[in-house]
Amino acid sequence: MEIISLHINGSRRELEADPEMPLLWVLRDLLGMTGTKYGCGVGRCGCCTVHLNGVAVRSCQTPVVAAGGMPVTTIEGLSEQGDHPVQQAWREENTAQCGYCQAGQMMTAAALLMQIEIPDDAAIDGAMSGNLCRCGTYKRIRKAIKRAAAETGKEHAL
Ligand code: FES
Ligand code: FES
Repeated sequence: MEIISLHINGSRRELEADPEMPLLWVLRDLLGMTGTKYGCGVGRCGCCTVHLNGVAVRSCQTPVVAAGGMPVTTIEGLSEQGDHPVQQAWREENTAQCGYCQAGQMMTAAALLMQIEIPDDAAIDGAMSGNLCRCGTYKRIRKAIKRAAAETGKEHAL
């Protein structure tokens, strides 16, 4: 066990944990932040996606020690009021079905839009290919990403 200092969603948190504990366990079990979901636990489904220093990572495959000193953003911190362009577009397109995979989907989509302002179909499919959805909401996810990109573009043009 070690004292680990994390910077999560703009706040500094100190906790005692095994440095090799997956960040996902720390978020859910030690910090009670259950927006990030446990799906496969082996890096295959994308349910557990968070941002580490602005990059989408699988928190089930990231030892907590690797997150020390870097900003971590979870779905709870994507925006203060749930009004990030991705979250708004998800609502407008009624994207979620059961919803289980959607936090991870939105975190991957938000990271994509930080890298590519207007992603084409190939860029969207490439970025999202590791996020699985049992309910098959892929078409609505693509539509929502395009809507979020268009809205972000409009904001930048103002
Ligand atoms: S729970 Fe991490 S990729 Fe599936
Ligand atoms: S919305 Fe049900 S798993 Fe994706």
